[in-house]
Amino acid sequence: MHITCAVAALFSPRATTIARSVIIAGLTLILLIPAMAMGWVRTPWARGEHHTVVQPIAFDHRIHVTGLRIDCRYCHADAERTASAGLPSTKKCVACHSQTWMSTSLMAPIRRSLETGRPIPWARVTQLPDFVYFDHAIHVGRGVGCETCHGRVDRMATAEQVAPLTMDWCLDCHRNPGPRLRPLTEITTMGYRHSPSDTSGVRLVAQGDRIRRLTDCTACHR
Ligand code: HEC
Ligand code: HEC
Ligand code: HEC
Ligand code: HEC
Ligand code: HEC
Repeated sequence: MHITCAVAALFSPRATTIARSVIIAGLTLILLIPAMAMGWVRTPWARGEHHTVVQPIAFDHRIHVTGLRIDCRYCHADAERTASAGLPSTKKCVACHSQTWMSTSLMAPIRRSLETGRPIPWARVTQLPDFVYFDHAIHVGRGVGCETCHGRVDRMATAEQVAPLTMDWCLDCHRNPGPRLRPLTEITTMGYRHSPSDTSGVRLVAQGDRIRRLTDCTACHR
């Protein structure tokens, strides 16, 4: 008698509703957590877009690029020649920042670098995972401007990452790079406008200087 009562209570409409809600809530959570995690890694925030990094010296691209009109390649000379763009050696800074300037505490890291012979420990802003192969020289040499991947560096008080740097982002251009290319004389220009009449990318292809559409996995994962 008692047992049937208990069993009946267990399967009463109310208990069943509660049990069902608990199971549904549990399942929803199990599904929701990975979905949220997958959503999170795709946010600009998780990818490091627009993060600002604290540097040993508050180097300002606006002063040096917009104000003084120094070409990117004076400081990032390797961008045209090698896989990495590289950061300037301390000598490049000292060329302009005379001894008097150097006595300020702002410039202490430059003095320390000269004394020890160790480079200024700039923190990285833009970085791909190790399993991705990237090469500056090939992009720059084919007419992909710095601005296309790094944005308006001339307007940045602190360098920041503006592109998502995801595989989709790379592939989006690799599927059809032509319209994104600019004349090689405009590689470091900031605020370059791609006009419909500018067919430099298309022209490169037409001249037999073929631009490949690199979408094979092995292009970037070697
Ligand atoms: C006078 C030297 C100088 C010039 C000119 C210069 N830069 Fe820089 N750049 C630096 C220094 C120093 C850093 C490292 C500190 C920082 O991140 O701000 C840097 C950092 C960067 C970074 C971030 C690097 C990273 O870790 O991911 C990018 C991107 C960059 N520069 C692009 C450019 C572009 C594009 C131009 C031309 C429009 C340019 N720079 C001109 C000195 C220079
Ligand atoms: C072509 C010359 C030149 C080069 C090369 C150069 N600078 Fe400058 N920099 C200047 C001038 C000129 C100013 C001052 C601009 C002003 O006051 O409007 C300046 C300003 C600065 C300031 C800001 C000072 C302040 O009072 O806010 C810092 C920091 C600085 N430079 C760091 C560097 C570093 C680090 C490098 C090497 C990566 C470097 N500069 C390379 C000419 C140069
Ligand atoms: C096709 C996109 C693309 C173009 C074009 C490009 N960069 Fe980069 N840049 C990147 C990526 C991606 C990284 C991160 C590389 C890594 O982590 O291996 C990077 C890194 C850098 C760095 C950090 C130091 C280094 O060598 O990794 C600097 C400085 C830089 N770029 C400057 C430039 C300048 C200056 C130009 C133009 C002359 C330029 N980049 C053109 C995508 C680009
Ligand atoms: C705006 C266009 C553009 C973007 C963005 C871009 N690329 Fe490229 N990439 C090119 C062009 C153009 C070439 C040269 C194709 C050729 O040589 O025919 C190239 C070539 C390459 C090569 C050379 C392959 C080889 O075997 O020589 C690698 C590696 C590469 N890209 C990786 C990347 C990665 C990784 C990213 C993203 C972080 C990226 N690219 C983003 C346009 C782009
Ligand atoms: C143009 C360059 C490029 C090509 C081509 C490319 N990848 Fe990627 N791949 C990347 C970059 C950049 C990342 C890093 C993305 C990130 O950190 O968000 C990546 C990440 C990955 C990852 C890590 C998981 C992830 O999504 O972050 C895998 C797996 C992968 N790629 C597989 C492939 C396969 C398979 C192919 C061929 C069908 C391929 N890739 C072609 C650039 C490329």
